[in-house]
Amino acid sequence: MKAFIVYCSPAGSTQHVAQVIGKTLDILGHHPVMLDLCNTQDVAAIKTQMRGIKKDPLLFIGSPVYACHAIPPVMEFIEQLPDDCEGYSFPFVTWGAVTSGIALYEMGTLLNQKGYPLAGAAKIVAAHSLMWQFAHPLGEGRPDAADDHKVADMVKKVAAKLKAQPVSTVPLAELNYQPEDVYNSMAGLSIKAVRQMLPQRQVIREACTKCGVCAELCPVEAITLDPYPCFGKTCILCYNCMRLCPEKAIAADFSPMEAWLQEKAKEFNENPELKVFI
Ligand SMILES: Cc1cc2nc3c(=O)[nH]c(=O)nc-3n(C[C@H](O)[C@H](O)[C@H](O)COP(=O)(O)O)c2cc1C
Repeated sequence: MKAFIVYCSPAGSTQHVAQVIGKTLDILGHHPVMLDLCNTQDVAAIKTQMRGIKKDPLLFIGSPVYACHAIPPVMEFIEQLPDDCEGYSFPFVTWGAVTSGIALYEMGTLLNQKGYPLAGAAKIVAAHSLMWQFAHPLGEGRPDAADDHKVADMVKKVAAKLKAQPVSTVPLAELNYQPEDVYNSMAGLSIKAVRQMLPQRQVIREACTKCGVCAELCPVEAITLDPYPCFGKTCILCYNCMRLCPEKAIAADFSPMEAWLQEKAKEFNENPELKVFI
């Protein structure tokens, strides 16, 4: 089995899960090709590699949940997948203990449409990446060693499953686990729609050295220096620019976010246990 692990992970949790998947596949002798979508140069290369493999490639594809959805770089990657591959897919999401939204279902729908039936799927709680300034973010300490163990176990199961013919796939409907009214309100949300609700960034010109680290670390190349950082329309609001600025020259008031996110988490009341669909 040839495996590919593709992910986008502004704050590192999805990458962590991807690495556990990769390590387990390595131990099983499958030696996956890994691709971090924040490093966009490799995208063309991986597609060429996938096209070259006609025999059942397995694509693990990981995204954080933002405003109930998978993030644009991941959905765009799926959109551009070769549709003559006859491979299987395994979407996985990390979510910040508020709600996993409809990200898995949307990824699964598009993967199915592109001709990559679901060998499985998973949702994994992780530290909420909008809460890095707070002492106790939602999802604190996750994914932990027990989660890693479950991820490794899940990879072993899916590898065994792909050996058996015919391969039993997961029905898409299983990923549609939100109640219908909740689904409908989540479908109406988007990163664009929450942009005004999230803390607005300001560049502190006295502190900014125009070093360009923010632009380099932006996963979607949305920052230009003019000569100070300007945030473009493709910004996905990961706040890496603010979190990772060496001069702390990007500021935003996150103080109302803690109570609001805690409240939302209570409202959704979603089970934070790692869930595997297999
Ligand atoms: C703009 C934004 C929106 C988010 N929306 C949600 C959400 O709807 N539900 C949730 O549980 N977590 C949400 N999160 C938290 C992330 O899904 C979670 O922390 C994820 O593990 C981050 O992955 P990463 O570390 O790979 O970037 C959001 C984070 C950001 C930055």
